[in-house]
Amino acid sequence: MADPPIFSFFCTSIVVLSLLRQSSAANTLSPVQSIREGETLVSPGRKFELGFFSPGSSKNSFLGIWFVATPETVVWVANRNSPLTDSNGTLEISNAGELVLLNRSNSVVWSTNSTKVLGNPVAQLLDSGNLVLRERNSSDSADYSWQSFDYPSDTMLVGMTLGWNFRTGLEHYLTSWRSTDDPSPGDYTFRYKINGLPQLEISRNGSGKVYRTGPWNGFGFGAVSKEPSTAGAPISVYNRTDAYFAFETLGDNITLRSPLSTDGIVQGLMWMSGSTKWYMIYSLPYDPCDSYRCCGANGVCRVNQSPRCLCLQGFMPKSQEEWDTHDLTGGCKRTVPLNCTRGEGFMKLSQVKLPDLVDFQLFKNMSLEECKVECLKNCSCAAYANSDIRGPGCLMWFGDLIDIREINIVGYDQYLFLRLPASELGSSHGLSKKLVTIAVGSAISGLLIVGTAMSIIWKRRTKSQGLPSEMDDIDLPLYDFASIAVATNHFSQTNKLGAGGFGSVYKGTLSTGQEVAVKRLSKYSGQGPDEFMNEVILIARLQHRNLVGLVGCCIEGEERMLIYEYMPNKSLDCFIFDHDRNSFLAWKRRFDIVLGIARGLLYLHRDSKLRVIHRDLKTSNILLDADLNPKISDFGLARIFRGDDTEEETRRVVGTYGYMSPEYAFDGKFSVKSDVFSFGVLLLEIVSSKRNRGFQHPDHHHNLLGHVSGMAAMERRQGHGTH
Ligand SMILES: *[C@@H]1O[C@H](CO)[C@@H](O)[C@H](O)[C@H]1NC(C)=O
Ligand SMILES: *[C@@H]1O[C@H](CO)[C@@H](O)[C@H](O)[C@H]1NC(C)=O
Ligand SMILES: *[C@@H]1O[C@H](CO)[C@@H](O)[C@H](O)[C@H]1NC(C)=O
Ligand SMILES: *[C@@H]1O[C@H](CO)[C@@H](O)[C@H](O)[C@H]1NC(C)=O
Ligand SMILES: *[C@@H]1O[C@H](CO)[C@@H](O)[C@H](O)[C@H]1NC(C)=O
Ligand SMILES: *[C@@H]1O[C@H](CO)[C@@H](O)[C@H](O)[C@H]1NC(C)=O
Ligand SMILES: *[C@@H]1O[C@H](CO)[C@@H](O)[C@H](O)[C@H]1NC(C)=O
Ligand SMILES: *[C@@H]1O[C@H](CO)[C@@H](O)[C@H](O)[C@H]1NC(C)=O
Ligand SMILES: *[C@@H]1O[C@H](CO)[C@@H](O)[C@H](O)[C@H]1NC(C)=O
Ligand SMILES: *[C@@H]1O[C@H](CO)[C@@H](O)[C@H](O)[C@H]1NC(C)=O
Repeated sequence: MADPPIFSFFCTSIVVLSLLRQSSAANTLSPVQSIREGETLVSPGRKFELGFFSPGSSKNSFLGIWFVATPETVVWVANRNSPLTDSNGTLEISNAGELVLLNRSNSVVWSTNSTKVLGNPVAQLLDSGNLVLRERNSSDSADYSWQSFDYPSDTMLVGMTLGWNFRTGLEHYLTSWRSTDDPSPGDYTFRYKINGLPQLEISRNGSGKVYRTGPWNGFGFGAVSKEPSTAGAPISVYNRTDAYFAFETLGDNITLRSPLSTDGIVQGLMWMSGSTKWYMIYSLPYDPCDSYRCCGANGVCRVNQSPRCLCLQGFMPKSQEEWDTHDLTGGCKRTVPLNCTRGEGFMKLSQVKLPDLVDFQLFKNMSLEECKVECLKNCSCAAYANSDIRGPGCLMWFGDLIDIREINIVGYDQYLFLRLPASELGSSHGLSKKLVTIAVGSAISGLLIVGTAMSIIWKRRTKSQGLPSEMDDIDLPLYDFASIAVATNHFSQTNKLGAGGFGSVYKGTLSTGQEVAVKRLSKYSGQGPDEFMNEVILIARLQHRNLVGLVGCCIEGEERMLIYEYMPNKSLDCFIFDHDRNSFLAWKRRFDIVLGIARGLLYLHRDSKLRVIHRDLKTSNILLDADLNPKISDFGLARIFRGDDTEEETRRVVGTYGYMSPEYAFDGKFSVKSDVFSFGVLLLEIVSSKRNRGFQHPDHHHNLLGHVSGMAAMERRQGHGTH
């Protein structure tokens, strides 16, 4: 008779062997199973994969989780501090119910450390990218005995929180990799800091804070537009049990990740299922003014201005030398010290990032008026502000004001009230006064505002260390579906401006009062995620008075929308092919329209930084503004030519028949000449008020183009005859 233990041993081995063979498809790991080099766990929706990897040129092996579609995108590493020096690691569940990583000599090199003892443990990789250890019979997240989301590496994912769990005393924060070859903790951290009000901060070991957002103001971190125009809106929770920052999900088909690079840059990256690359939606810090304390105490940083640093109104550089060289690192001091005398008051500064919370007081219940009174009472109160733009809340600063910068965000209305002696109030003081007016009025050119997972924050083109080099960034606000639904009266029929194969266009009014045209792409438009992003990025980068301006875009679940400036006169075809309105277009008007289109086209082909072939130039894609200025629209099919390329071939001929050049329609060859051909057709249509296709002539069956070239040929022949 077989000895029971041996029998059961054999049974187990057979089970292990058969399970091992399937382990690459599994998303759970049981105590009898293990994962070795080359084997992986894949999440149910095939989004994330857990296994062993060696980063870059490293010979060491690590257990990690990566994104299935881009396996080089590692989002979590287990044994950051204890690399396996050979490829003989094994992951399994120990007798104690913990996940353990063993090296060749079966020594534990990494292990989970859960507080809960499980009866029947199982490890599972979820579609969120979270590796959890739980009771087999319960998938309730409250029953996880351990989860990787509690131990972030350098990447934040949707569902993960950054901050504190006061019950467990655990802080979640990101730590950069040491280098792209070495996932061990590097110099930079990205944390949710709670000091009165929460702020996000990037710090460098040894040199402290390198970047901070503004304090959380009820909508976002500091400089946030009041418009709820944020896709993946930020969530900030701060109560007795929890204090954290998280992203809201954008739906199953959109993945957001936010890595902290080895050189201390936090980026927001978006992936849509079906796309081929990650799109950057923000990058922090973005510009030189984001660098912490760049203008010293009481200085203000202004991007793209010279000098970049100025002293606040009522302040002057601490040293005369700096005053002369405009090097303000030493900071500024008050021209006239405050002494609580009569007449002291406040100057309202708008469009500035609030000073850092160094020496400050917060009164959550105090109104702005009470705040002012309280600040005046204390001689060392230098400034105050509303701490929560949704209601009451008073922030007061004492002493020096640190890390103030100019911003430019439409609708941003969190003001800084700067205390000044009577002599400085209402007087005009050269540079400092100018700052205030600049700060209120002008745009920071070259900077684009991005509504993001962290609300509106600045992004910058990075040295792209560790990032795919072809990665594109989105240079404009992302709106969430709800705010666009409200703007368009829930896509009501009365708001509908038109429809086509791509979907429908609706008129909308944003909460700022701006009128927009919302192009809601149909699910059947055939426009994949990359085509959509192609259009978004293209239009955002192209800026010309004869090109339609993009206000923002919306991506949520399967929804794809482009938000354009509103053109009250619709498209050119509504004019020239309409019997009544046609007469409204005098020759001069038509000439101006043709000229405008030509200018727009010249910009696309020659004058913009990119060489763009529109590929679908036609009357319905020429929109007219209130003054009948033409604007080229619809860049869904446009192509960018790089460098010296002048001609390309495509197997997929897209565009509109009647406007396509023959070599494009038949051979798929396109170049700037294809657009010029379409422009020619447009020109004929504008002059004749007749459609190229649909043109009828009693003598022949040619289209308008054929008719005109026939006439031209005839004229040439007659010309020869007479001469
Ligand atoms: C270690 O890994 C190598 C290559 O993966 C393999 O050839 C070798 O048999 C493994 N050794 C042990 C003890 O598992
Ligand atoms: C396995 O890990 C133990 C403890 O970290 C270490 O002493 C041993 O040298 C390692 N063995 C191998 C083959 O790496
Ligand atoms: C596991 O946790 C306990 C207390 O929670 C701690 O004392 C111990 O050092 C931890 N061990 C490891 C390996 O992290
Ligand atoms: C799961 O199983 C454990 C014992 O293994 C038991 O104590 C627990 O009540 C079960 N939970 C559920 C939800 O069935
Ligand atoms: C900071 O750097 C020093 C020296 O490189 C190192 O000893 C220390 O552990 C680091 N501290 C942190 C928190 O990383
Ligand atoms: C703190 O906020 C979290 C998330 O909203 C909530 O689950 C928790 O119950 C709150 N705690 C208290 C004490 O209000
Ligand atoms: C306070 O400062 C003002 C100038 O702002 C000065 O005229 C006044 O004499 C000062 N008062 C005291 C008590 O120092
Ligand atoms: C703030 O005001 C609310 C309502 O006016 C009151 O219920 C609450 O107790 C106040 N909190 C503090 C800390 O004064
Ligand atoms: C003014 O505020 C500072 C900082 O909070 C405090 O230390 C000081 O006592 C206050 N002075 C008065 C007169 O209230
Ligand atoms: C995600 O995409 C799949 C296939 O493209 C589709 O069936 C599913 O409905 C989408 N889910 C969401 C939430 O949009």
